[in-house]
Amino acid sequence: MATPHTIAVAGKGGVGKTTTCGMIIDYLCSKKTGPVLVVDADANSNLNEVLGVEVETSLGAIREEMAQAELKGTIPSGMTKADYADFKFSSAIVEEDEFDLLVMGRTQGKGCYCYVNGVLKSQVDKYAKNYSYIVMDNEAGLEHVARGTLPHVDTMLLISDCSRRGVQAAARIAEMIGEMELKPGKMGIIINRAPNGELDSGVKAEIGKHGLELLGVLPQDEAVYRCDCDGEPSSKLPQSNPVKQALKGIMQELGL
Ligand SMILES: Nc1ncnc2c1ncn2[C@@H]1O[C@H](COP(=O)(O)OP(=O)(O)O)[C@@H](O)[C@H]1O
Ligand SMILES: [Mg+2]
Repeated sequence: MATPHTIAVAGKGGVGKTTTCGMIIDYLCSKKTGPVLVVDADANSNLNEVLGVEVETSLGAIREEMAQAELKGTIPSGMTKADYADFKFSSAIVEEDEFDLLVMGRTQGKGCYCYVNGVLKSQVDKYAKNYSYIVMDNEAGLEHVARGTLPHVDTMLLISDCSRRGVQAAARIAEMIGEMELKPGKMGIIINRAPNGELDSGVKAEIGKHGLELLGVLPQDEAVYRCDCDGEPSSKLPQSNPVKQALKGIMQELGL
């Protein structure tokens, strides 16, 4: 059975993880080299917005419904709890023409994400074999890495803004990943929002200091910024968009 190539992003809040994911998804879909599963594993999920997709439910919400059904005894008779879970969770997949989207969402109540994280992992594992690529957006702290609930990652992209502090944050995450079981096949840093697409020498020095592999630089871009302000999906910007162009170069360099 073929295993998909999994790409995940990490980095501190607001550096462009979700934006980058959206464009990676667009790139992979436009290549038409096989089905893409998109996983929004950020509790504050908004990847659907950069993709321009409506989402009605999430694994977190379904988990709540399940817990309620169990409590009230409304699980359909003749169905085991596992069957019911399977049935409910399969309804969490949003099927678009070019990709499928799974939103993890957050659980209500006193925030233990362990259960839903576990469910996410088993669902992803179950569906994974149907896809050529999995693209996973994550939250800043990369809690799933800490909890070991992320599926195997082939390519881990550390995203940073064009600042020393951004690079330092990425380096800390890289260190954390290094200490975990995750062991991504490949890990490197992408500098986003670089003025004129140029990497400042101080920032470059910081990357070197932490021994990070620089995969590429994405420019600060007015059109991407406008998309956010206007509520438009940035992943649907024309292929000529400078950020898309730069990202395409990085992806090709990675052999993706
Ligand atoms: N290259 C870029 N040029 C201009 N704005 C950008 C760029 N990358 C991201 N942004 C903007 O920065 C903000 C944060 O990006 P986002 O992808 O949501 O970050 P994260 O997912 O890391 O929190 C958004 O408003 C987005 O439009
Ligand atoms: Mg995000």
